[in-house]
Amino acid sequence: MNILLLGSGGREHALAWKIAQSKKVDKLFIAPGNAGTCNVGVNVPIKADDFDAIGKFAVENNVSMVVVGPEDPLVKGIYDYFKGNKDLCGITVIGPSKFGAQMEGSKDFAKQFMMRHNIPTAKYLSVNASNLDEGKAFLKEMKAPYVLKADGLAAGKGVLIIDSLEEAYKELDEMLGGKFGASSATVVLEEFLSGIECSVFVLTDGKDYVILPEAKDYKRIGEGDKGLNTGGMGSISPVSFCTDEFMDKIEKRIIKPTIDGLYAEKIDYKGFVFFGLINVGGDPYVIEYNARMGDPETESVMLRLKNDIVDLFEAVADGTLKSRTIEKDPRYAVTVMLVSGGYPEAYQKGKVITGTDKVTDSVVFHAGTAIKDSAVITSGGRVIAVSSYGDTKDAALKKSFEAARTIDFDGKYFRRDIGFDLK
Ligand code: AMP
Ligand code: GLY
Repeated sequence: MNILLLGSGGREHALAWKIAQSKKVDKLFIAPGNAGTCNVGVNVPIKADDFDAIGKFAVENNVSMVVVGPEDPLVKGIYDYFKGNKDLCGITVIGPSKFGAQMEGSKDFAKQFMMRHNIPTAKYLSVNASNLDEGKAFLKEMKAPYVLKADGLAAGKGVLIIDSLEEAYKELDEMLGGKFGASSATVVLEEFLSGIECSVFVLTDGKDYVILPEAKDYKRIGEGDKGLNTGGMGSISPVSFCTDEFMDKIEKRIIKPTIDGLYAEKIDYKGFVFFGLINVGGDPYVIEYNARMGDPETESVMLRLKNDIVDLFEAVADGTLKSRTIEKDPRYAVTVMLVSGGYPEAYQKGKVITGTDKVTDSVVFHAGTAIKDSAVITSGGRVIAVSSYGDTKDAALKKSFEAARTIDFDGKYFRRDIGFDLK
């Protein structure tokens, strides 16, 4: 079959790399892709949220499955767009409906869902212009630090963690006043949870699910988890504290009630669910849901997934996921992200990337890269993700760090302490 994958980051290169290994695939297209995805498929110059152009391309190229990488097209309703069009409704879309994508697109929706299904998460209050006083009273009751979240998508910048109550009041006013545009017209206030985070991924057909290898990502720009938040500077799988016992709690208390809840509420959801979790004294709590895979977790997770991913996607479409078992590579897989100097603040683009051809013992996934005059250049903040296997975490990291030194571009930076907090 022909498959169209939407997106252009490291996550999409890793998904494309995995999809291209399936014997079930004739042609793989990536829209718009990057300078790495064109080595495993055909890049198509269409934006991931240009639904009309995507639909037209799918029909003209006999595409029978669309795999959605990023959240934006999901939250904007690409699933419903295909379902509601007579020429497109026979094409499988891997990703939830617009309604289901609110699990990520609206933090208030996700919180209400968790309350209805008794899923452990931080105490919260949703605030808008009509209950600002109640919001301030809630903050006053909480202990510092204070957690304020824009309800809608805010390019990863909508979560503020603030030490002083006065500052939290001020931020709440500013958020409701439009600091993140319409995304912060509602603000979710939360109790601060203290613990270590991990990312757990499932694929669901709306009724049953399979659990993919878990991972931990490293969000801060600086070593020791210091400095500004980024899209993610590296990832590790497996996660040492995700023991069988802890994973069992996650499945019973969080995954199963979530999928059962989606099914009971007749929410059309055929795709990935990303559970952003925190381990508080041995008990898992949900920090957030995402309607897609994580980046840079996918780069490690795809290395450890032994199943044919297209077979899993077919089972999602047919509603037969119950009959599939996930096979995991027992080795460690780690990812180190090479970023542009200055990221996540202002950074330069257009720097020539060298050395990727000299890397032999790691998988080089492209993120923010493009081709110009037949040279591969940087085109984003996160540029290259180097993923490696190892029998131990340190053996895998050694390979990724070596590759990170071999690949070069002006202003290259990477964290040398990925995995520092895991056994
Ligand atoms: P989110 O976009 O909801 O994942 O939030 C971004 C980051 O903020 C998370 O990865 C956590 O590190 C942190 N965070 C969010 N909510 C909480 C909370 N209730 N308690 C502690 N940290 C939080
Ligand atoms: N790595 C976190 C995310 O993809 O949201």
